[in-house]
Amino acid sequence: MNPQIDNLLHESRKFAPSEEFSSNAVATTALYEEAKADRLEFWARQARELLHWETPFTRTLDWSNPPFAKWFDDGKLNVAYNCLDRHVDAGNGDRVAFHWEGEQGDSRTLTYAELTAEVKKAANVLAGLGIGQGDRVAIYLPMIPEAVISMLAVARLGAVHSVIFGGFSADSIRSRVDDASAKLVITADGGWRKGKVSALKPAVDAALEARGDLGPQDSVTHVLVVKRGENEVEWTDRDLWWHEEMAKAEPEHEAEAFEAENPLFILYTSGTTGKPKGILHTSGGYLTQCAFTHKVVFDLKPESDVYWCTADVGWITGHSYVVYGPLANGATQVLYEGTPDTPHPGRWWEIIEKYKVTTFYTAPTAIRSFMKLGRKIPKQFDLSSIRLLGSVGEPINPEAWMWYRKVIGAKAAPIVDTWWQTETGAIMISALPGVTETKPGSAQVPIPGISIDVVDDDGTHVGTGNGGLLVVTEPWPSMLRGIWGDPERYKETYWDKFGDKYFAGDGARLDHDGDIWLLGRVDDVMNVSGHRLSTAEIESALVAHPFTAEAAVVGAADDTTGQAVVAFVIIKESMLEESAAVEDIAAVLRGHVGEQIGPIARPRDVFVVNELPKTRSGKIMRRLLRDVAEGRDVGDTTTLADTTVMQIITGQVTAK
Ligand code: WTA
Repeated sequence: MNPQIDNLLHESRKFAPSEEFSSNAVATTALYEEAKADRLEFWARQARELLHWETPFTRTLDWSNPPFAKWFDDGKLNVAYNCLDRHVDAGNGDRVAFHWEGEQGDSRTLTYAELTAEVKKAANVLAGLGIGQGDRVAIYLPMIPEAVISMLAVARLGAVHSVIFGGFSADSIRSRVDDASAKLVITADGGWRKGKVSALKPAVDAALEARGDLGPQDSVTHVLVVKRGENEVEWTDRDLWWHEEMAKAEPEHEAEAFEAENPLFILYTSGTTGKPKGILHTSGGYLTQCAFTHKVVFDLKPESDVYWCTADVGWITGHSYVVYGPLANGATQVLYEGTPDTPHPGRWWEIIEKYKVTTFYTAPTAIRSFMKLGRKIPKQFDLSSIRLLGSVGEPINPEAWMWYRKVIGAKAAPIVDTWWQTETGAIMISALPGVTETKPGSAQVPIPGISIDVVDDDGTHVGTGNGGLLVVTEPWPSMLRGIWGDPERYKETYWDKFGDKYFAGDGARLDHDGDIWLLGRVDDVMNVSGHRLSTAEIESALVAHPFTAEAAVVGAADDTTGQAVVAFVIIKESMLEESAAVEDIAAVLRGHVGEQIGPIARPRDVFVVNELPKTRSGKIMRRLLRDVAEGRDVGDTTTLADTTVMQIITGQVTAK
């Protein structure tokens, strides 16, 4: 056991669910027992009970050609029908599906009946443009109801969507459209972000510009344009206004059932190489696990809950926990167009108060940035409707977890820290509220029906108290079915390392209770003098210091120790004065990490900066910080949310 890494696991706080919560909880311990007794039958029951099958399946899993799985493959269903029509047929047409809130404060309510009607018309529009089963449709939209309507219309036709996050550039759109040979692009003139209209269509125009002999034959025949920003846009022959086509569309559309393994979407995610991977998901298994996890992890009471997942539909969290899981379960949701701090820093809390949100699901990076601003802002709003909180996307340090619990959850709402990936499609590791005693900083336990292990490089289980690599040991319903157009890369990336286990690329540790702690990507694990250190662990130690608001740690090449720890920290607004009075703040923080973890983990350098380089989804780009730490020219910054950040950081570091 490595005593240095053990620090993070000294977390002794545990929070048992309240009697009241437990006695009304959707999740039960019986789920674990049932899944353990017969894993496949457990998933088959979820699939039958949570979804409507036009043709019931008789085969649960076909794993005869690993790593290519087929789930429920002789069954047929329509994904959009499961998310829409059946709720209306069941008498819930008047239930609100979305409370949509524009950044400017305009709002729109869509009931299940209204959403179903919109999707039927949109399906007719798309079919009229030649879209049918298997065709790819690229979607590049802001967070407006049409984003969800488009995705479901594509799904209704058995076609395949590829949603491209609205912050991506023309080049990224082009490579995604080309890779999938999309026939249609759905976009908007623009959308509201940070108090301004941010244009979208010009990026699509640039992406589709004639390329002479250089590119492949342009596959796109039409571009459908939603009017949202009201900004002037250029017009070409292939463009059509969404509202004009919708006005002409027939209202009725019969949903056809497709086989369970019919592709549902491609979502591009970055790998270790420069070329994004098109992660492929299919229908029946994906929808089953999304619906199951959304129901039990978020303790869903569809009649009374108002659920808000802040993720953009351009990311997997938006796919699984804004669109497919919640809608399959008939949930009522909030959908918000804008940024958290526009027009004021309490915008999110204001929305929670307005819609009486009960269930709130967001990312640690957002929690930490609110923490930085202080509790005064959320305290101005009535957050008493909240009864459950969720976290996703990166390890949440115990400090941020406790703040989330205290300030947002009024020390009562359970927190579920959910680990999963674009590739896994749905949640894999999480506490179940009402059942699990929660522990700040740990994602804890695999959900029922999911088999996870932590192993060493040879694939051997590491045992409690030890660290290693996170693997999934059995196929699961919402697993990726491959990388679009590249089955070899799928095998190589995820399966070749262990042969029979899915390699997630994350480091993890089992504590003495057997709970799982995620330690960041293994490419973010450093090796200092032969000791393995996790960036997440040192960041957590730094953030535990009263001065620190945020921290990012990288391993920089070092002649003596192999790698050295280099930290970049942001000081809390409220601590600026106090920290300025300290003579050598870097020394204080180095000492603090030394105390918390051990001398080996003490950062060689601590740089105090005002900003950290983050992608648009909020992930810290350590690669760029490594460039700074190693004194290199900073590499490609195009995927940063704010590309000027690196100039500022480099300036601050070299001025030291
Ligand atoms: C990280 C987002 C710690 C992890 C759903 C994973 C997490 C990557 C957690 C996938 C968590 C996600 N705790 N780390 N609760 N959730 N991650 O594909 O490194 O955008 O491999 O999916 O995020 O990111 P992706």
